[in-house]
Amino acid sequence: MALLTILEYPDPRLKKVASPVTAFTPELVRLVRDMAQTMYAAPGVGLAATQVDVHKRIVIIDTSEAHDDLLVLVNPEIIAAEGEAECEEGCLSVPGYYDRVTRAARVTVRAANERGAMVERTVEDLLAVCIQHEMDHLVGKMFVDYLSPLKRARLASKQRKKQRLAG
Ligand code: NI
Repeated sequence: MALLTILEYPDPRLKKVASPVTAFTPELVRLVRDMAQTMYAAPGVGLAATQVDVHKRIVIIDTSEAHDDLLVLVNPEIIAAEGEAECEEGCLSVPGYYDRVTRAARVTVRAANERGAMVERTVEDLLAVCIQHEMDHLVGKMFVDYLSPLKRARLASKQRKKQRLAG
């Protein structure tokens, strides 16, 4: 297992659109395991492959306290969505920043797991929000894209300054 490097906003690689997974290989199983280790170590409740610079449609989520309920979604599609929920979100690619975003309150997602078995789940609340947040990463979209242009510009300049100091 290995810890992967998480890209940080406004890294342009976070804007790449992921392509579907076409083969369920041991490499995919290994990647999912490494992503899980990276997410738990961060710590975070969700991670998209895009965030570790792998541009494939893979997301993992675990909102459990005990970190023992890993949901792996390969080639996920939201097949139903309803309601509205406003939730404070954060992202491992935007460390230390949180803001409110409005999303669907309940979604039904269909996906494969890392071994190719089909999963279909209808979920709400935090899990529904996480799925939408992570799936956005796969199309190059981040939660900060929902903020006002002014807020986003301020955040981007703060992040760049921080990265210059760190680098
Ligand atoms: Ni995120």
